[in-house]
Amino acid sequence: MDDQRPENIVGGKSFTAVAINCAAKAGEWIKIKSGTFTELDLKYSKHDLVTEVDKGAERMIRNLIATHFPQHSFLGEEGVEPGPEASAKAIERVSDAEYLWIVDPVDGTTNYVHGFPFFSVSIALAHRGQVMVGVIYDPMRDELFVAERGKGAYVHGRKMQVSPEPALAQSLVATGFPSDHRMALPVNLKGIQAIAPQVRNLRSAGSAALHLAYVAAGRLSGLWEIGLSSWDIAAGSLLVEESGGRLSDTQGQPYHLGVRNIVATNGRIHEELVGALKQADATG
Ligand code: IPD
Ligand code: CA
Ligand code: CA
Repeated sequence: MDDQRPENIVGGKSFTAVAINCAAKAGEWIKIKSGTFTELDLKYSKHDLVTEVDKGAERMIRNLIATHFPQHSFLGEEGVEPGPEASAKAIERVSDAEYLWIVDPVDGTTNYVHGFPFFSVSIALAHRGQVMVGVIYDPMRDELFVAERGKGAYVHGRKMQVSPEPALAQSLVATGFPSDHRMALPVNLKGIQAIAPQVRNLRSAGSAALHLAYVAAGRLSGLWEIGLSSWDIAAGSLLVEESGGRLSDTQGQPYHLGVRNIVATNGRIHEELVGALKQADATG
């Protein structure tokens, strides 16, 4: 804790309560609209989808936050131009804001569109670049993952802890198939080819935020992915840290809001996973 950050303000219940309220309200609405959305648009590429539900949920969250904290800054996926360069610039511009909410209203839009029930609402609050609150909500399973810096991470009020696997050989590891097929996908595919034979198995369920929550909950041993955005990672980063896990970029350097190539693990397999990605020249 630095001296300018009084515990009663930064760690205050109200930030977390608002984050939970936003995630729950948006999640409920997303679930109600599931299967009945009417507008499907392409963003950066034919692999990058958006519906009116993504936009409406972000609007709902933004308005709720503005009602409670009108001075706070807000970064939401749907308020940013599509594509990796715009995403990277967007977080650069605001990352040292005093209070910054970082929101992915629907992480896993492709799943949402196809009725594959694995998507989430991801909401983080950062104070001068450091994530202080992270909330991820899975409306289909009604699972709410909540972390406050220094206070642990919880699902359904149960404290979470990362899994105990000591090595890749015993691990279940997740990754993704990025929608950026120019830069990120080829690198991630190289990683998949290298990592698949070394782990128990790989999973790619289509919501990076929910994958991070699953690492925190000990359901996955770790994950890596190339080319994510700040809103995919921010909330989950705190869940993983507060559950005793470890986070870095794919080179093993410490996580910060600008990191797009991420490794998040139970800690025990971290060096091995980073090493295997380096060896495969799959760090991005
Ligand atoms: C995507 C999901 C997916 C990941 C992609 C992300 P979106 O987010 O997190 O798991 O592989 O790279 O873009 O577009 O559904 O919010
Ligand atoms: Ca996302
Ligand atoms: Ca999204």
